[in-house]
Amino acid sequence: MLELKNLTKVIGEKIILRNITLTLREGETLAVIGPNGAGKSTFFKCTVGLLQPSSGEIILDGEAVKKKSAAVKKKIGFLGHESFLYSNMTPLENLRFYGKLFKVRDLEKKSKELLKEVGLYLFRDTPIHSFSRGMLQRLAIAKVLLPEPKILMLDEPHTGLDQEAVALLNRIIKEKQQGGTSILIISHDFEQVHALADRVAILKKGKVVDTIELAQHLDLQEMKAWYEKVVKEA
Ligand SMILES: Nc1ncnc2c1ncn2[C@@H]1O[C@H](COP(=O)(O)OP(=O)(O)OP(=O)(O)O)[C@@H](O)[C@H]1O
Ligand SMILES: [Mg+2]
Repeated sequence: MLELKNLTKVIGEKIILRNITLTLREGETLAVIGPNGAGKSTFFKCTVGLLQPSSGEIILDGEAVKKKSAAVKKKIGFLGHESFLYSNMTPLENLRFYGKLFKVRDLEKKSKELLKEVGLYLFRDTPIHSFSRGMLQRLAIAKVLLPEPKILMLDEPHTGLDQEAVALLNRIIKEKQQGGTSILIISHDFEQVHALADRVAILKKGKVVDTIELAQHLDLQEMKAWYEKVVKEA
């Protein structure tokens, strides 16, 4: 489904990503974890077409993709550190705007349903420049879900969310998993990773240093121990 082959990114003199080969399998949830500065967000941006990799290939459903490719836009919904929302617009206007861009059917109905789902319906007509960080993140989540992408890529999606919104996001993620959506999630939150992922990859200094299947018997403590050992030795 989504294959990354020998992905390398050099910025200036610095090698940020080194030969990353990783596959996001159909219907799986893959978590990418690793220390600050490991290259996770750069990896994320290359994969969703916000950055051009220096070399390597990204293959989506058998086709090689380029930066800003239309196929990527249609199939991958991504939530990064920036939300790309318009601050002078209301939540409903933001969703209408993106929905039109993505030719979403039943846009009005779906936008309102999503705003209810993320708990922003009461604020649907309030310009978002007054919103808190968590409220913006909730809207960003609604925006990503609007076109019903086959693949979801989430870079630290729990950041800034209160407990209620964390539970809500996890409920949404689990719903999507059951519907067969493939999900790549970048996170520092081991608890969320353990609760959501089928497989975990560790990125360190731009390299994937290990991956593990989260079989049911691997509990949270064991996952943490694995991470600490791998990061220390890599
Ligand atoms: N535009 C850029 N120019 C120069 N260096 C960059 C640029 N973008 C990222 N880097 C460098 O690439 C490395 C990886 O950054 P990246 O943001 O991908 O890390 P990360 O794993 O997402 O970290 P965090 O966990 O803090 O979010 C860092 O050393 C960073 O300084
Ligand atoms: Mg990052």
